[in-house]
Amino acid sequence: MKTFQLMGVLAIATLTLMASVRAQTPAPAATPQVQTSQAPAGDADTGKKLYTSYGCYQCHGYEGQGGAAGPRLAPRPFPLAALTAYVRKPTNQMPPYSERLVPDADLAHIHAYLESRPTPPPVASIPLLQD
Ligand code: HEC
Repeated sequence: MKTFQLMGVLAIATLTLMASVRAQTPAPAATPQVQTSQAPAGDADTGKKLYTSYGCYQCHGYEGQGGAAGPRLAPRPFPLAALTAYVRKPTNQMPPYSERLVPDADLAHIHAYLESRPTPPPVASIPLLQD
């Protein structure tokens, strides 16, 4: 192996090592979770209760999986600001929910709940769907 090739291999190995050390370093504990300018970070467990009690599940399904009456929302809902804007002023068949009915903070919890839902398995991994 020529010297410059060896140096290249060494440089890549060093960079890979540095990247893996970086990846293992825990994030600083005090980093605040910023979602939008004023909205507080949501809590998924609280969100689950609110999602049920406000009746979002009736059209979107308990897991936000969607159904005949509403589209899938989980596990990748719109960003919080867009979700809030939509719930306040839906453009089609969904009923509007005012801030007085469903406060912004509750939508932050609902958003966290939707984000916490597991990703569905790929179709290729379900034997019954292969025939
Ligand atoms: C009566 C049925 C119904 C209820 C209850 C309902 N939705 Fe919807 N929602 C819909 C339908 C239908 C759409 C598709 C767009 C439309 O027709 O407005 C939708 C769209 C959305 C969207 C936009 C997603 C997209 O991909 O278009 C969001 C976000 C959403 N709903 C959140 C909620 C939340 C949060 C609640 C509870 C506070 C809720 N919805 C309650 C029927 C409903």
